[in-house]
Amino acid sequence: MTQVHTPAQAAVTFVGAGPGAAEHLTLGALRALQEARVVIHDRLVGAEVLALIPAHVTLVDVGKEGFGPSVTQNQINASLVAHAMSGPRVVRLKGGDCGIFGRLDEEMAALEAAGLSFRILPGLTSASVAAASIGQSLTRRGRNASLRIVTGHDMEGFAEQDWRGMARPGEVAAIYMGKKSARFIQGRLMMHGASGATDVTIVENVSRPEQRILGTTLAALPEAVAGCSGPAVILFGLAPRAARSSVAVLKEVQA
Ligand SMILES: C[S@@+](CC[C@H](N)C(=O)[O-])C[C@H]1O[C@@H](n2cnc3c(N)ncnc32)[C@H](O)[C@@H]1O
Repeated sequence: MTQVHTPAQAAVTFVGAGPGAAEHLTLGALRALQEARVVIHDRLVGAEVLALIPAHVTLVDVGKEGFGPSVTQNQINASLVAHAMSGPRVVRLKGGDCGIFGRLDEEMAALEAAGLSFRILPGLTSASVAAASIGQSLTRRGRNASLRIVTGHDMEGFAEQDWRGMARPGEVAAIYMGKKSARFIQGRLMMHGASGATDVTIVENVSRPEQRILGTTLAALPEAVAGCSGPAVILFGLAPRAARSSVAVLKEVQA
């Protein structure tokens, strides 16, 4: 059985950086960054977080753009293993939570294959911060008893989901990497009975100075998302709080 190691034992610490701002970084993550010898980071790590890394630390940018990786996963794995072989205190820094759509498993497997130890410090995922920024919770008694975290695309292309379940009234889903597949998602959900009037909120550049909130509906989702150039989380089933009367929400909670 694989052992998850204590800080002193681990050759590599996987760290979730949160979606952008320093205030969304955990204290454990900050400590790991300050004690690091090497930090290998992704494109989605916020500038505020990178600025907290001491100047003497070696920074390795393995950023990837959208669908077409500029650095392949194999190259990232090889870099991680090589740095960990050459000494301790290697941090692998990933945007959001490293355990959510973060290719964590591939990198853990590469370390295991090389006989190297690791530990994981999770971070705030972009959906949590996006929901907070629109004044909503991701679950609510009487509305949704579960939360879906889904991706717009997987290794095969646009990702299939449990559309029938997701289309039920009151369901909430946080859709990651959903910009290119927005029309596909809209079509699948409406085909399975979702109303075109279902609330959808797009939060672009969560936790960054350029953050934008776009309240829309499922019917208008593809057009709304077309104007987003930055990373975006699509909150299906949620409207920005100001767009709904709190009296209506109270009635739903009490119902
Ligand atoms: C490869 S996934 C990484 C998710 C990340 N591990 C997390 O927990 O947020 C990349 C997708 O996450 C979402 N994302 C990550 N950071 C974001 C941010 N600051 N603002 C909006 N969306 C973000 C977007 O949907 C983006 O396409």
